[in-house]
Amino acid sequence: MKSGLSDRFGRQLNYLRLSITDRCNLRCRYCMPEEGVASLGHGAVLRYEELLRIAKVACDLGVRKIRVTGGEPLVRRGVVDFIGTLASLPQRPEVVVTTNGLQLAEMASDLRDAGLSRVNVSLDTLDAGRFLQITRREGLERVLAGIEAADKVGLGPVKINMVPIGGVNADEIEAFARLTLEHPWFVRFIEFMPVSDDLDYTPEQRIPVEGIMAALRRVAPLVEEPRRGPSGPARLYRYEGAPGGLGVIPAVSSHFCDQCNRLRVTADGKIRPCLFSDQEIDLRAAMRDGAGDEELAAIFRKAANVKPDRHHLEDPHDGTGTRRMGQIGG
Ligand code: GTP
Ligand code: 5AD
Ligand code: SF4
Repeated sequence: MKSGLSDRFGRQLNYLRLSITDRCNLRCRYCMPEEGVASLGHGAVLRYEELLRIAKVACDLGVRKIRVTGGEPLVRRGVVDFIGTLASLPQRPEVVVTTNGLQLAEMASDLRDAGLSRVNVSLDTLDAGRFLQITRREGLERVLAGIEAADKVGLGPVKINMVPIGGVNADEIEAFARLTLEHPWFVRFIEFMPVSDDLDYTPEQRIPVEGIMAALRRVAPLVEEPRRGPSGPARLYRYEGAPGGLGVIPAVSSHFCDQCNRLRVTADGKIRPCLFSDQEIDLRAAMRDGAGDEELAAIFRKAANVKPDRHHLEDPHDGTGTRRMGQIGG
């Protein structure tokens, strides 16, 4: 099989974000409505054998990092074993997870034993009342315990993703930044993305990069860190002598699309070449119609070929799509 998957713009696509469920045990207001998303039917969600096959074809095509996402990936039964099978693929891809952390404390050591490399944890507030307000569920203590557990068992450096929203939690940017003075954690601040037009927050509540940076500088002077590799979306900083680090992800205002190395597969088996484009290419139908690995690889190449050069989210008339973040996997 021909190796290497690149797109029309010369970008090497070696990072697969694989969503294994659209279900979630939280209801973050920037992600989904109270009632949750209309769940994909049981048969619609790919079985683990199907997900593994997709991962294998992707690895044959040069993918070397697989991020397991959701919804909330840790709510799907059997996820630990599945991660073990991913990590054991012949190419030994780096397998990582993005989780809301609610079940991480109990699962961290099993995940590590299965072959997981690292975790990114989404957390937007350090205040229990606000946690309830933002996620519509209880659980702050469990998430914090999950982060500690992941750190302890060697799933670090743990990255914490925080989305500051004006009038909601933006006043906590400094408190999150101060965590890096005491812990070996990476806190990354993500610009709120208006991915669908029925969320509880408005585009005006986005805190642009400049606002985030100003808050970070109020804590202490920032030292800029070199970016490791071309692919990561975060600009990296650190406070002098701090064990942890800081990142700012300018998801909307200054896109990093020219360096994007990602492809996404949704839980119902659609390749999504770009987070923000609703163009999707169906792998599931082909797979269930008996397609061989070569055919699946051809579908991946087709998806790579239609990956757009960039998003246009800064244009108020563009960008909002039909799937919510939790249905894509972030
Ligand atoms: P690392 O692999 O550890 O660097 O993590 P990651 O940033 O790739 O993954 P994570 O799931 O932690 O994503 C963090 C956030 O970055 C996501 O919630 C998105 O907000 C943003 N992000 C990830 N991928 C993209 C992308 O392709 N485009 C844009 N605009 N934002 C993205
Ligand atoms: N804007 C920015 N980040 C978002 N996330 C989910 N929805 C949004 C949004 N509308 C983040 C979560 C998680 C990651 C996968 O996506 O906080 O860290
Ligand atoms: Fe669940 Fe993540 Fe969406 Fe929050 S942002 S509701 S944790 S999928």
